Amino acid sequence: MPAFSDLSQQDPSEQALLQPAGWNGQGFDPPLQLGVMASGNGSNFEAMEMAIRRGDLSATIRLLVVNNPGCGAQRRAERLGIPCSVMDHRLHQDRRELDLELVRRFQDAGAEAIVMAGWMRIVTDDLIQAYPNRLLNIHPSLLPSFRGLDGVGQALQAGVQISGCTVHLVTEDLDAGPIVAQAAVPVMADDTRTSLAERIHREEHRLLPIALMHIGQRWRQG
Ligand code: GAR
Repeated sequence: MPAFSDLSQQDPSEQALLQPAGWNGQGFDPPLQLGVMASGNGSNFEAMEMAIRRGDLSATIRLLVVNNPGCGAQRRAERLGIPCSVMDHRLHQDRRELDLELVRRFQDAGAEAIVMAGWMRIVTDDLIQAYPNRLLNIHPSLLPSFRGLDGVGQALQAGVQISGCTVHLVTEDLDAGPIVAQAAVPVMADDTRTSLAERIHREEHRLLPIALMHIGQRWRQG
């Protein structure tokens, strides 16, 4: 079972976490309006869309933005019929310019919250502050362990017996924002980077939609 942080503890006025306005017991009305950012394969992006189509995630993905033209996430969006915008970071002057353009595109698309689903770039305050407490990241470790690049490899290197994945809010400190949900996976003695990454990926695909349903209730409380 995934574990959730008790978000109500962060703000005592939000005690009615499970009964927010606009929540009919099954979904949000209207569904969460999401923007998604991805750099690579895009399996988490597709897992979110599949959860939406199954009725497990009450949301609409308004726009996917990728920074690597032709990446797996872009191809998945084309197959799934989801609007996709390519913003090659190499064509932008600096991170700030890229992030301001990201904000513009997500706002134009009507996104109320953004999910970084395998976005392999550091983001700036310009993006974080445009979506305060509404910018989520998924990371392949049990934070606060193994922040930064290659969370899977870091866990193997450290010899831990349990690793996992974390969905957290993005703040200025890399991979250090408030934790929304986590799931643990065992590390086997014969695990390679690939086998452990696959096990973590399977949990990520389950965790991200559940985490969104959880935090979406807080967003909709206003
Ligand atoms: C996921 O494992 C995600 O946790 C990780 O990138 C992978 C993307 O997979 N993110 C980070 O490492 C961010 N620091 P996907 O493209 O198949 O969704």
